[in-house]
Amino acid sequence: MKKRKSILDIAGMKNSGEKISVLTAYDYPFAQLMDQAGIDIILVGDSVASVFSGYENTLPVTMDEMIYHTKPVVRASEQALVVADMPFMSYQVDQSDARRNAGRLIKEAGAQAVKLEGGVNIAETIAAITAIDIPVMAHIGLTPQSIHRMGGFKVQGRQDAQARQILADAKAVEEAGAFAVVLEGIPASLAAEVSAALNIPTIGIGAGPDCDGQVLVIHDILGLCDKYSPKFVKRFADVRQTISDGISDYIGEVKSGTFPAEEHSFK
Ligand code: KIV
Repeated sequence: MKKRKSILDIAGMKNSGEKISVLTAYDYPFAQLMDQAGIDIILVGDSVASVFSGYENTLPVTMDEMIYHTKPVVRASEQALVVADMPFMSYQVDQSDARRNAGRLIKEAGAQAVKLEGGVNIAETIAAITAIDIPVMAHIGLTPQSIHRMGGFKVQGRQDAQARQILADAKAVEEAGAFAVVLEGIPASLAAEVSAALNIPTIGIGAGPDCDGQVLVIHDILGLCDKYSPKFVKRFADVRQTISDGISDYIGEVKSGTFPAEEHSFK
């Protein structure tokens, strides 16, 4: 049995200059594959709402659904730190709600940390959760749960005032006790500045190469979704075509009667 990484190991990686690898997973097989490949952190992202459930954005996913998806990821992984996303409206109403829901992801689902979106506006909630010894990964910049405020998935921090706000958000979540922060959809130069200003690791997605680590959605890097793919995604494999070919071959062989053959039949 391998030793699972802790938030201390992740902090140590920033100090030693080793880049932190993060991918999303929502089920047992993908979590097992990435854990065995040596991923540092598995994020059970609320992106499950889009890439697994087919919603237009992340807002509809519920606490019970996040717990359902986190459990198999924890069971499948031995060495990666598992972080579970707190879904929209599971932490915004009040702090006791936030603590209870963060606690459910740790106690019922088995995650080792939770992630929530927001900066200065959510810092007190991060402090309330970390005060009960639940590690928090923060998420600032383009925060998908704020889609209606942002008017779409748009790069944040291009104007000076916005950039200053993002820097203030980063400092606020660090002060509140977050062990790491996701920087999403911000200019690379701003992400570099934030990464240099913080002691905690920054994990970038659409934030350039100077973050302390990188995160992407597993369905995006494997080409599993047919929807629009953002500029920051690199496709490392084309699994959709392989799956589609396999399904077509199966249908063809059932129709033609070539499957099942003798070797697939009992005597
Ligand atoms: O939900 C998610 O997958 C995320 C990452 C893309 C950072 O929050």
